[in-house]
Amino acid sequence: MVDWKNPPKLFIPGPVHVLPEVLQQLSRYTLGHRGKEYSQLHKDTVDMLKKILSTEQSVFLSTSSASGVWEGSIRNCIDHNETVLCTMCGAFSDKFAAVARACGRNVEELKVDWGKAVTAEMIDKKLAEGKYSAVTLVHNETSTGVKNPVYEISEMMKKKYPDVLVLVDSVSGMVGMPIEFDKLGWDVVFASVQKAFAIPPGLAVFAVSKRAMEKSKTVTGRGYYFDFQEFAKSAEKDQTPTTPAIPHIMALNYQCHKLLNEGMENVWKRHKQMADFVRSWAKENFALFCEEKYASDTLTTIKNTRGIAVGDVIKAVQAKHNAVFGNGYSKLKDQTFRIAHMGDINMDDLKELLGWIDEEIK
Ligand SMILES: Cc1ncc(COP(=O)(O)O)c(C=O)c1O
Repeated sequence: MVDWKNPPKLFIPGPVHVLPEVLQQLSRYTLGHRGKEYSQLHKDTVDMLKKILSTEQSVFLSTSSASGVWEGSIRNCIDHNETVLCTMCGAFSDKFAAVARACGRNVEELKVDWGKAVTAEMIDKKLAEGKYSAVTLVHNETSTGVKNPVYEISEMMKKKYPDVLVLVDSVSGMVGMPIEFDKLGWDVVFASVQKAFAIPPGLAVFAVSKRAMEKSKTVTGRGYYFDFQEFAKSAEKDQTPTTPAIPHIMALNYQCHKLLNEGMENVWKRHKQMADFVRSWAKENFALFCEEKYASDTLTTIKNTRGIAVGDVIKAVQAKHNAVFGNGYSKLKDQTFRIAHMGDINMDDLKELLGWIDEEIK
């Protein structure tokens, strides 16, 4: 049983550890979502997110987890007779492709082995072969700990395939790693708040380019809940189409102020420092699951080269120290384990955790 007065510290790659002061934001008095106060909260939050994502285009708040925006990005940006190239390098990018198929779109796969990154050259080669209207990318593959080279991919896309829309899942990357939405020329990027924003789950953030908004008007069967046109109509009043998760937006507003006060460059640097620290421990004691140059700054997937009983070590660390780190995801269970270093987790937390793991594996 969880001791609710002293809950475990989470080092899993989402939901992540949430600070008490952020939790407090979730218990403030609620507001009517059609009133002036809500609109002010909404506008302030969206304006800050635009700064965080370096965009002057649309940013929306979705009361859903990020999977909803997986579906929304497909339903709004790809017509039924069009083909999307889905890049696949792990469990979540595989799911993005499955969602595109579930929405009835033609999917062509670009698949690499788990642990490998998807590169600009691979995408270029594939796009040159056929007629695609969009490509899906996962910025940070939470199962394998791979950070795909999205800046290089975007440069290539802008130069060679300027008409192909770029739909990016940055669920575990956003805030922890650079995203300059307008400069990258992306059409959709999204994340849920239980990752590097360090808020409990229940809300997603997404940005949409002007051209994706225009395209969406021409696509039929967009549905309702994730219809970008509905989001845009409500955004004119600084509102959302349906009743939003207001407590989460209060917490997001709080976290955005904190991020901007720190400065995004510093936030990214802080994540990189934590990643470097965990990576060097991982290399000393085990091995990285992916090539180091593609290793994520928000989580590390560690190859279990010593054959430790991962589940037992997780249980022991939780029982003795009230902290939880992650087992490998799906087929990587026990072959790998994962440590998140994002959001409000800090160096001292990580030093403590790695020390506790050391005690169990020595
Ligand atoms: C990369 C990635 N994409 C998508 C998702 C799904 O997000 P959600 O669970 O918020 O719907 C996750 C969840 O962990 C993820 O890590």
